Order: sequence, then C-alpha cells, then structure tokens
Amino acid sequence: MSKDFSTSCERNQQPILEQLSIYFKDSKQVLEIGSGTGQHAVFFAQSLPHLIWNTSDMLDNHKSIKAWKQDEEVKNIVDPIEFHFGKNDWPDLDIDAIFTANTTHIMQREEAKLMMEMVATHLPSGGVFCQYGPFNVNGEYTSDGNRSFDQHLAESDCGGIRDIEELTEWAIGMQLAYKVPMPANNFLLVWRVI
Ligand SMILES: C[S@@+](CC[C@H](N)C(=O)[O-])C[C@H]1O[C@@H](n2cnc3c(N)ncnc32)[C@H](O)[C@@H]1O
Repeated sequence: MSKDFSTSCERNQQPILEQLSIYFKDSKQVLEIGSGTGQHAVFFAQSLPHLIWNTSDMLDNHKSIKAWKQDEEVKNIVDPIEFHFGKNDWPDLDIDAIFTANTTHIMQREEAKLMMEMVATHLPSGGVFCQYGPFNVNGEYTSDGNRSFDQHLAESDCGGIRDIEELTEWAIGMQLAYKVPMPANNFLLVWRVI
C-alpha cells in the first residue's frame, strides 16, 4: 500500500501535539475531519495512547491513511470513514472530541459554515473541538504569506482563509475557549461545547 507524504504535517505535528496534550488530556474518542495522508493520525495516536483516533476523509485518501496505520502498527487508530461536509451524513460515532487541521480554508464557505454549525451537536457538553490552520483576525491577514496563500486558494477554487470572528458567528452550541498562536502564522482554535 502507498503512503502519501506531507512536509507540512512533518513540520507542524510536534507543536500541535504539545497543544493536544493539554486540550485532549481528558478526551477518549476523537474524530479527525479531513485526515489527508494519515500522517497526523499516526503521530497523534502514537503520542496520545489514551485516545481512540477515528479518521475520516473522501475515499481517494483512504488508501494512504490505511497504509500509514498499517506500516506504523498503531492500534488506537480506526480505519477511515467516508466523510465530507456537504456530501456525506455525519458518521455514527460516539465521540467526545474533534480535531481538524488545514481543512477550513480548503472547504467551500458553505461547507465551513456547516462544520461550525454541526460539530457541537455531535459532542457532549464539555466536549472539545481543536481546529488548526491559517485564520484571519478582524478581517485582516496575519502575514503577507497568508495573503498570497489566500490568493492561490482563490485561483485553485478553494474556499479561502476564514476570519475567526466569522467562525465564531457561525458556531452553534460552543464557545471559543482558546486562540493559540502557532508557528508559521497559524492558530489552534480550541472550542468547548456549552
Ligand atoms: C490541505 S488537506 C489537509 C489534510 C490534513 N488534515 C493535513 O493537515 O495534512 C485538506 C483536507 O480537507 C479535506 N476536505 C476538503 N473539503 C472537505 C469537506 N467539505 N469536508 C471534510 N473535509 C474536507 C480534504 O479532503 C483534505 O484531506
């Protein structure tokens, strides 16, 4: 089986892990939205063995996710579920945490809005949603690099970098508990279900 490789995952996984170690400390069952290559899933599941890590993405990415899981022999990862906002129903899982990295700006605006409206309805009170990626603050880019990246996203027909304030308006049933600045002008947004 063939494993796809992402250099950005390799760069950002350690700083993200340091935050997940805090915010997922009391969690048990995590759903990852948009697992991509599967690299993050393997790294976080190995490093946080108290968690069951449920992966998801469109079918095209399942081969790589399974290959990473198999090669690293990680026991606390669940095989990927086919799940994309706007296309698939919410998976039937009993979860208390959700993680997603670098998906919000790839999703179309309506898909990102749907995600912010839906996640809390599938988590218990006190459940945590950790959302990593580039975000704008008060309608402003946080770097020239993010501005150029957003231009590239528009040319590639992706949804684009979203404002944290816009996400907060869309969020139903959860509050932004922490806005953690991360390397390379990214944030980890930590949402807690009310
Ligand atoms: C840039 S990749 C990031 C993958 C991985 N999370 C990472 O950090 O390397 C964007 C991911 O978002 C997923 N994605 C795009 N639109 C989505 C949607 N509507 N619902 C769920 N995931 C989506 C893609 O399938 C892809 O895996």
